[in-house]
Amino acid sequence: TTHTVAIVVGSLRKDSLNRKLANALIRIAPPSLSMSIVEIADLPHFNQDWEDNPPQNVLAFREKIKAADAVLLLTPEYNRSVPGVLKNAVDIASRPYGQGVWIGKPGAVVSVSPGPLAGFGANHHLRQVMTAVGIKTMAQPEAYIGNAGDQFDDKGELTNASTIQFMGKFLNAFVQWIERNK
Ligand code: FNR
Repeated sequence: TTHTVAIVVGSLRKDSLNRKLANALIRIAPPSLSMSIVEIADLPHFNQDWEDNPPQNVLAFREKIKAADAVLLLTPEYNRSVPGVLKNAVDIASRPYGQGVWIGKPGAVVSVSPGPLAGFGANHHLRQVMTAVGIKTMAQPEAYIGNAGDQFDDKGELTNASTIQFMGKFLNAFVQWIERNK
């Protein structure tokens, strides 16, 4: 069987390293994973006043997450934590209380940074939030992609052989995690 995976990329910029890695994961994914990026760029800032009548793009985002068998969050690190745009997207799909669409989904996290610390702080802050919204987050293997500025060619293709190999193992482990937890 094929498992659908909603990928959320925590950076809005055009040349995002996180987005490049997401696209590489889509290309190298095993046939049992059907992965696609769910965009967050047009989401408004969360406002609890909408609780009864949210904007259309908020409802559409929640539906896309709800429809997926699993979720994969890619995060940059901003000031040792998760970028606000990504936290906002997670919050949006966590409401109304008790009806969050993340609840019970198998999920995984990858942090990507041009720096050597590989987004460790963001990775673990995001794990805390994922647990809070009910995502069954894969503990192992962890994925910290550091020095990411050197890992892609001019066309944005992932060229670092050891990262390609590692991410292949990560995705195979994720398939097993999904099958045990969905
Ligand atoms: C950063 N950056 C950064 N990098 C890091 O490793 N640790 C950090 O704490 C921060 N802090 C930080 C704060 C802010 C406000 C910005 C804009 C940037 C650098 C960051 O890793 C770099 O811009 C990445 O390229 C962002 O990811 P994308 O956009 O390439 O996916």
